[in-house]
Amino acid sequence: MRILTPAKINLHLEVLGKRPDGYHEIQSLMQRVDLSDEVEVRAGGEGIRLVAEGETIPGGMDNLACRAAELFCRQTGLTGNLEIRIRKRIPVAAGMGGGSSDAAAVLAALNDLFRTGLDPGSLMEMGARLGSDVPFFLFPKPALARGRGEKLSAVGLPEHLGFLLMVPPFRISTPWSYETFDQLTGGKKKAGTNLRDSYPALADLLPALKNDLEIPALSRYPEIGRMKEEVLRKGAKGALMSGSGPLTFGLFPSREEAEGAARRFQLPGGWQSIVAEGIG
Ligand code: C5P
Repeated sequence: MRILTPAKINLHLEVLGKRPDGYHEIQSLMQRVDLSDEVEVRAGGEGIRLVAEGETIPGGMDNLACRAAELFCRQTGLTGNLEIRIRKRIPVAAGMGGGSSDAAAVLAALNDLFRTGLDPGSLMEMGARLGSDVPFFLFPKPALARGRGEKLSAVGLPEHLGFLLMVPPFRISTPWSYETFDQLTGGKKKAGTNLRDSYPALADLLPALKNDLEIPALSRYPEIGRMKEEVLRKGAKGALMSGSGPLTFGLFPSREEAEGAARRFQLPGGWQSIVAEGIG
């Protein structure tokens, strides 16, 4: 069972306050992009084994995909003799949800492979126990996410969105990002801006581009702000950091325009650029 499982971009992310369980209430607009990891799940052998290719990822039960397999087997009574292979193309710990996407792919693959027949809602509930972003990868559409990120409703986005993804040579830890956000802003509760359930054209979407987690990221890595300015000068209609970062993107009306800008844009040493397209 082999699955191509995509990365996500946050087009909006507001932190609305800290919750008693330690998480933060958020509202976010999330879209998949056509940059994918390849996840393969096979029955057999002994225990849950992980074989990874590409960028280094955590091994064993430190890996969310292995924890997904373990949870799935425990919940469904399967013995859990499996091999998981991950070909990593999504930058790790960058704000694109790669680990969550792999975990969601494992849940979906196991459900198919063993014909366990769990409905999408049950798979998403299982996903939410693994991480706040996992349910999104089991939800078939661009989404408005609330709660800690697991309460999803479909949102309409422009049919063609091109992204020039800029991947810096450093990484940001998500817990650090939320903690530093609270320290820098006082952690007050807020209502959040009004989001729509449809953004038919790019011009409708641009005013919604906002990410509160840029506050901690920029306090430590001001170069993220400079890259946003630079990509706007290269013709992007909008620019934003995704999730807890540090991946930052320029937004274009089409993949072709993002490709054109990528050709004109010499990124600083250690930064990598990837052109991607939104998936509806
Ligand atoms: O849910 P996930 O395991 O991906 O979250 C990682 C960490 O990010 C949490 O332990 C928490 O510190 C922080 N987080 C948060 N509020 C959210 C999502 C994540 O505080 N809505």
